[in-house]
Amino acid sequence: MRPHGELRRLRVQIRNTGRQFSVRPAQSLLDAATGAGLNLPHSCKGGNCGSCMARLLHGSCHYPNGIPLGITSGQIAEGFVLMCQARAQSDLEVEIRTLAPAGELTVKGLPCRIERCVQRCHDVMSVHLRLPAAEEFSFQSGQYIDILLEGGRRRSFSIASPPQGSHLLELHVRHVPGGEFTDALFAHPDQQKLLSIEGPLGQFVYRESAAPMLLIGGGTGLAPLMSIIRHVIANGLKRTMTLYWGCRAEADLYAHEQIETLARDYGALRYIPVLSAGSANWAGERGMVHEAVLRGTADLAGHDIYTAGPPAMIAAIRAQFLSRGAAPERLYFDSFDYAPDSVERHRRMALSNSWSSAERD
Ligand SMILES: Cc1cc2nc3c(=O)[nH]c(=O)nc-3n(C[C@H](O)[C@H](O)[C@H](O)COP(=O)(O)OP(=O)(O)OC[C@H]3O[C@@H](n4cnc5c(N)ncnc54)[C@H](O)[C@@H]3O)c2cc1C
Ligand code: FES
Repeated sequence: MRPHGELRRLRVQIRNTGRQFSVRPAQSLLDAATGAGLNLPHSCKGGNCGSCMARLLHGSCHYPNGIPLGITSGQIAEGFVLMCQARAQSDLEVEIRTLAPAGELTVKGLPCRIERCVQRCHDVMSVHLRLPAAEEFSFQSGQYIDILLEGGRRRSFSIASPPQGSHLLELHVRHVPGGEFTDALFAHPDQQKLLSIEGPLGQFVYRESAAPMLLIGGGTGLAPLMSIIRHVIANGLKRTMTLYWGCRAEADLYAHEQIETLARDYGALRYIPVLSAGSANWAGERGMVHEAVLRGTADLAGHDIYTAGPPAMIAAIRAQFLSRGAAPERLYFDSFDYAPDSVERHRRMALSNSWSSAERD
């Protein structure tokens, strides 16, 4: 008898890497690949950023939640799919963008313990996770881990510590009011809680080159950039780095002194904090962080650009930097979207609110 529904498994062949994995019809192609230990290119996992786009060579897919924002109808007609949203309707053959070397690291599921939480400002905490000493865990600076919740749901957080000493991971966690994971963490930060994580994930990694680096972070988007900066410094790499860090107000600059010290000790790091709503006393840059970068950088084309943080900031950078000469192949980004289950819940709530207000009117 043929299995059907959730028991059915379809096969996905990746032509240009020779790897294959199986997928359930209800599972996204990206989730299935990650579950099989493959770290395919992706960032937001929410269908917005386009980083997981692949070419569908054979077979058919569909999008159960409608066409995602990160793909145009022209791209669909040309045979592209978004791996984080597409569901297989048959066996598939795809061609993915290969981004060595992060793809070569094995994605692992591991238990870990919250060793220490340090409140950095009103809504950001450094969380230090201790991994089992007997387990090998290698990552590249810039990557992130998923914290696994019940029911297969997950929350992504970038690693702020450098790869050396990788058994103690530091995360910068922002409290999202109403957020399932961060509400509980901020309510009881002192609990030595056990967590399950999966990682390392993501293709947002430091890449060797001679070009000066522009590092642009929004809020906790600083985390993966700190990992990169600490990696460069710890290994004595000869890179010139300019870090633009965008926050709302002075109270949000949770690592200001730490970065000032790094910049003082390491001459090749320039630090420019940018506030969108700084007080009258703020003497530094003001406005949106990407606008400050555009004002301060004559030659975007000559830089390797790493940018991480809120999806709106990433979208503005992608839209404006390319037209100002940034090289697309050297513009790396990490979009901090909410988890797919939480976006779906938010969408349902917004829909039901608009129905009830329509009924009232
Ligand atoms: C690759 C990656 C790396 C990340 N790294 C970090 C990091 O280093 N530090 C960090 O602080 N965060 C990071 N994030 C973001 C973090 O994963 C989310 O903030 C996470 O969802 C918070 O989990 P939670 O359970 O507390 O909140 P959730 O339970 O996910 O809920 C979030 C709240 O937001 C609401 N919400 C959901 N969707 C929307 C929407 N579209 N618009 C408005 N509101 C919405 C929900 O209703 C809910 O109230 C990263 C995200 C990604 C994808
Ligand atoms: S669109 Fe798939 S990872 Fe962003």
